[in-house]
Amino acid sequence: MSVPAAASPVRIEELPPALFGSAVALWHETGLTRSWNDPDDDLRRAIDGPSSTVLAALDAADDGADRLLGTVMVGHDGHRGWVYYLAVAPDARRRGLGPELMRAGEDWLRAHDIPKVQLMVRRQNAAVSAFYEALGYAYSDVVVMGRRLD
Ligand SMILES: CC(C)(COP(=O)(O)OP(=O)(O)OC[C@H]1O[C@@H](n2cnc3c(N)ncnc32)[C@H](O)[C@@H]1OP(=O)(O)O)[C@@H](O)C(=O)NCCC(=O)NCCS
Repeated sequence: MSVPAAASPVRIEELPPALFGSAVALWHETGLTRSWNDPDDDLRRAIDGPSSTVLAALDAADDGADRLLGTVMVGHDGHRGWVYYLAVAPDARRRGLGPELMRAGEDWLRAHDIPKVQLMVRRQNAAVSAFYEALGYAYSDVVVMGRRLD
C-alpha cells in the first residue's frame, strides 16, 4: 500500500465497510497477520460485537474517496480494554498517527467505562515496546497463556 504525503486533514473514525479490504491488506503489509488467525474474521467480529470496534485514520485521496492511513482494533471484556492491529501505512509513519490512533482507542474505552487498557507485543516485534513506553505503557509482571478453542 503506497500513501503519498498527506494532502487533506486526517480524521479518526470507525473503519468504513468500503475500506475493510484495505485494512486487511495493511495488516498483511505491516506484518501483523499470522497463518493461524484469519484477519477478515477478526475484523468482522470486532466490528459486529457490542464491545469492540476498529478505528481508522483516514484522509481524502485526490478523487475525494477515503484513503486508509492506519488502524487500531479496540475492545473490552468488561474488565480490561485490549488493543490489537495497530498499524500505520509505511508512507504515513513518523508523523504522530500511531499515537493518535492509540489515544482514540483509549478514548473509546473510556467512553465504555473501562478503566484500564493493555496489549500484547510479539517477542519478534519487541522494538516497538519503545513506542508504547513513550505513550505511558509499562510492562506487566504476568505470563500470558492461551490455547485454541476450535
Ligand atoms: C508502531 C507504529 C504503529 C508507529 O506508528 P507511527 O505513526 O509511525 O508512530 P510515530 O513515529 O508517529 O510515533 C511516535 C514515536 O514512537 C516511536 N516509534 C515509532 N515506531 C517505532 C518502532 N517501530 N519502534 C520503536 N519506536 C518507534 C518514534 O520514536 C516516535 O517518536 P519520534 O517522533 O520522536 O521519532 C508503526 O510503526 C507500525 O505500523 N508498525 C508496524 C505494525 C506494528 O508493529 N504494530 C504494533 C504491533 S504490537
